Amino acid sequence: MTRGLITVFGGSGFIGRHLVRRLTRAGHRVNVAVRHVEEAKFLKPMGDVGQVTPVKADLTDAASIANAIKGADGVVNLVGILYERGAQTFDAIHHEGAAALAAAAKAAGVRRFVQLSAIGANSESDSEYQRSKAAGEQAVRAAFPGAVILRPSIVFGPEDDFFNRFGALALVAPALPLIGGGHTRFQPVHVGDVADAIVKGLDDGAMAGRTYELGGPRVYSFRDLMEFILAQTGRSRLLVPLPFFVASIQAFFLELLPKPLLTRDQVKMLRRDNVVSSDALGLADLAIAPTAVEAIVPGYLDRFARGGRFKRQMAS
Ligand SMILES: NC(=O)c1ccc[n+]([C@@H]2O[C@H](COP(=O)([O-])OP(=O)(O)OC[C@H]3O[C@@H](n4cnc5c(N)ncnc54)[C@H](OP(=O)(O)O)[C@@H]3O)[C@@H](O)[C@H]2O)c1
Repeated sequence: MTRGLITVFGGSGFIGRHLVRRLTRAGHRVNVAVRHVEEAKFLKPMGDVGQVTPVKADLTDAASIANAIKGADGVVNLVGILYERGAQTFDAIHHEGAAALAAAAKAAGVRRFVQLSAIGANSESDSEYQRSKAAGEQAVRAAFPGAVILRPSIVFGPEDDFFNRFGALALVAPALPLIGGGHTRFQPVHVGDVADAIVKGLDDGAMAGRTYELGGPRVYSFRDLMEFILAQTGRSRLLVPLPFFVASIQAFFLELLPKPLLTRDQVKMLRRDNVVSSDALGLADLAIAPTAVEAIVPGYLDRFARGGRFKRQMAS
């Protein structure tokens, strides 16, 4: 795509910040559409003066969507939630919100639309998260047939949720849980590779109307990942197998926290592997060489290691 205006819904989040940097480097102007514009202001220095504009918008508010995409050549939808709170329900955000954004983009003459979904999106799933992601994909396709749909496995990078959460847990907890025995398989993908795939989705008309599953170079069991985190942080912790039903009972109580560590819906998702399907299009079809966990994660797990950055910061 020639240099133009790209509106990134959810651009202040984890994947968003990496995408915004790539878009400004490519010379695009970027509208970062989020509910809390103050929390998007840190993105402004990623571009020249006026190149990055935080715009107040909510996927549940049609007028704010229309305002955020006015004049845009491309739209990216990165809005996603891991648990429900108030009006932020899975259906309102992943399904109705995505549908409204895609329809508005079509009506406004936007040329390219990229929708972030997730591996496991499936209308038959037990998990509400996964069912709502599947409903969102279908609604986006119906409203904007040329949309590019990207389904990552868990995404890693310095600000990720997964490695940081369990790295922090390893710091304080005497044991780490192996939910369902720790057999669930994952294919973690680097945030930079996901951002590159999104940029290609905006640039390359040949991707229009296609769905890609994004995974890294290796598949790991949940146990493998816990052992990796312990090795990298230099900690020795018990790994305690936790049957799914016990994890579900724990999650019932953890859901009461303002930011739940685990939900019953996530326990349902852990019952299925989260890896790229053998027949799916993927990073190789986009000529993106996937980055290894081992090349990146040790650099930021260091903050949880003995004598690591976290300890050094506490001491200074
Ligand atoms: N991270 C992963 O491992 C992973 C794996 C698979 C799929 N994905 C998908 O990739 C996408 C991006 O994930 P992420 O990890 O970057 O998410 P994230 O860090 O949680 O960021 C979510 C963004 O959405 C915005 N947002 C939330 N509700 C909104 C609303 N109603 N209207 C407008 N903006 C709203 C947030 O800003 P405000 O709160 O200020 O509005 C924030 O900028 C999501 O669709 C997610 O499901 C992520």
